[in-house]
Amino acid sequence: MTRTTSLERRSSHPHGRLERTLIDAETLEERVRELGAEITADYADRDLVLVCLLKGGIYFTADLSRAIDLPAAVEFVRARSYAGTESSGQVQLSWIDGLDIAGRDVLIVEDIVDTGLTLIEIWRALEEKGAASLAICALLYKEKRLAHPFPVRYIGFAIEDVFVVGYGLDYDERFRNLPHIAVFQPESARSPSR
Ligand code: IMP
Repeated sequence: MTRTTSLERRSSHPHGRLERTLIDAETLEERVRELGAEITADYADRDLVLVCLLKGGIYFTADLSRAIDLPAAVEFVRARSYAGTESSGQVQLSWIDGLDIAGRDVLIVEDIVDTGLTLIEIWRALEEKGAASLAICALLYKEKRLAHPFPVRYIGFAIEDVFVVGYGLDYDERFRNLPHIAVFQPESARSPSR
């Protein structure tokens, strides 16, 4: 059952509003459990390091890592590219320097693949650090937006080309703490009568 939270009731933001639930919390939980089981089987006896892309990957990584039945390490890298609902086209990575991943099996955990630019940058940076293997696990995948095709081994959900928030995803740092994924409608895209 999807409950209406007070966060949803106060869902308007000066620049837009929550439009509808795209993926509810129960469906997210179930899919994360399936991905965890798949990764557990694929990485048995390997030295698995999950690299969480912050900030958006925080809730997904927290849940996915607990659905993986292996002694995996969890590391964090910050990637920034978005302002509002648009990518700046430039990706800034922080905290890469201290990562100890040489010779280890790295799984990049990303909230959403949009144009694919972030993945290209992080892949390059981790490859340079000598990972034994690299793969990507993305909760959401906007197939139609993909400008830089990239092999994503694990995909939670392929979604339409809409701007989403919740479960780690934000609009200008708001709505990350929604327990489900919702479509966010920016003010500029709303009809004048609404
Ligand atoms: P890409 O580099 O274009 O693939 O964008 C990836 C990053 O953009 C994600 O990690 C998010 O931080 C952000 N992003 C892309 N689409 C959305 C969205 O619909 N909602 C919130 N953030 C998004």
